[in-house]
Amino acid sequence: MDTLDSLLNKLWSDYISLNPQAKDIYDLLRKEGETVVNDHIALRTFINPEINKEKLAESFLGCGYRVVSDYDFKKKKLNAFHLEHENQSKPKVFISELRNHQLSKEAQSIINEAVREVDQKSLDDFYLTSSGRPWSANHQSYQKLLKESEYAAWVYAFGFRANHFTVLINSLKQWGDITDFNHFIKSNGFPLNQSGGETKGSPADLLEQSSTMANEVLVEFDDGSHQIPYCFYEFAKRYPLPNGDLFQGFVTSSANKIFESTDVN
Ligand code: NI
Repeated sequence: MDTLDSLLNKLWSDYISLNPQAKDIYDLLRKEGETVVNDHIALRTFINPEINKEKLAESFLGCGYRVVSDYDFKKKKLNAFHLEHENQSKPKVFISELRNHQLSKEAQSIINEAVREVDQKSLDDFYLTSSGRPWSANHQSYQKLLKESEYAAWVYAFGFRANHFTVLINSLKQWGDITDFNHFIKSNGFPLNQSGGETKGSPADLLEQSSTMANEVLVEFDDGSHQIPYCFYEFAKRYPLPNGDLFQGFVTSSANKIFESTDVN
């Protein structure tokens, strides 16, 4: 049945099928007796009249979500918004879209050619957000995009699927502090992204985040299979607003650094 739980479960199973380290960390926390609460899921897309963040939001809006805040990532050329469910125990959904019309003509033509292949009917699929890549892709074009925008290259190679899930540290019993939690993750053999410092944000931002380094996966392109970075697992510690409620938004300066977790080194 097309329910919110089936939508979220499909996103998670697709995500861990390509990123088994996220499942390993999830299982590790469960073994420690923790209940793992997912703070948010991040989704990415290009902008096109038919394909954009509003399109990716549709299934969620039909399941009790509403758009709460808009964001602008100038350097990364991204628009974004986040959705919240009426039931606060459901994960937030963070959806960004690349302003691909601000890239070079060559990058735009690669993206436009890909988007033209999309079957319009497939965009109305309830499970669009975990449907994968709806266009053919070649590694040469991937590398061209990568020179201009890691984000463009990622969407081109992977299409529609979760970019990351996020463990809400506040919901864990053993770790109140993100530095202690990071130490636990690293000591279990999972390196963390150090770009911009291990922990992004501060208590003053009301949000601290860290993430694993993106794992590499073998992607089939028209011109052969190549190992490229897929995605990471994120960890978030939220702080209360003056009224006592936990801050539920996102901080653009620290998210800029988190976006770099999938960069090719
Ligand atoms: Ni995130």
